[in-house]
Amino acid sequence: MPTVTVKLSQTEFSKLEALAAASRRTKSAVLREALAHSGKKSPSLLHAMRPYIGKLRGPGDLSTNKSRMKGYGATLNAAQTTTLLDYLEKTQGPKQQAANSDAAAKALLEASCTGCHDLDLVSNRTGNQAEWQEVVDRMNGRGAGLSEKDVPVLVQYLVKTYPKK
Ligand code: HEC
Repeated sequence: MPTVTVKLSQTEFSKLEALAAASRRTKSAVLREALAHSGKKSPSLLHAMRPYIGKLRGPGDLSTNKSRMKGYGATLNAAQTTTLLDYLEKTQGPKQQAANSDAAAKALLEASCTGCHDLDLVSNRTGNQAEWQEVVDRMNGRGAGLSEKDVPVLVQYLVKTYPKK
């Protein structure tokens, strides 16, 4: 099976841990389940999480059990543990991914296209796919230094941001 390493904040990790504990499954199983549900349009996140709500054993507010809280670094109750999926949806959902990739493309533009001239040259121009492709290839030939995989990212961004009028 392919393996993915995910960086989580302490709070996110605590949520995942609590979710896993509440449903007595591994953290991997919880994430896989979250993924399996993330593509389906209807049942709401809350609905998907319903089986786990209230399943956390022990005091409703784990802060009453100080030793248990040590590793968590946060006060968690059962309802809070349901926010992991919400979080995944917000940070990894289609809208957010589009915003992330726009930001990445803009960073490429700023890093690779400002060495020899201002970005005015870019923003004063428009183009379709083929035209922007030609510009980026030409600039790469001059030494812009974009990698093969970054070229289409930047071209797509330019087509979207400065489309042919
Ligand atoms: C190594 C220097 C250099 C870098 C880096 C560079 N350019 Fe240029 N650029 C030039 C030169 C020289 C010209 C004028 C000659 C020409 O048009 O080819 C130019 C002109 C342009 C023009 C105006 C001419 C046209 O075809 O519309 C655009 C747009 C442009 N560059 C976009 C970019 C973009 C996008 C990047 C980043 C991928 C970039 N440049 C990076 C040197 C560079």
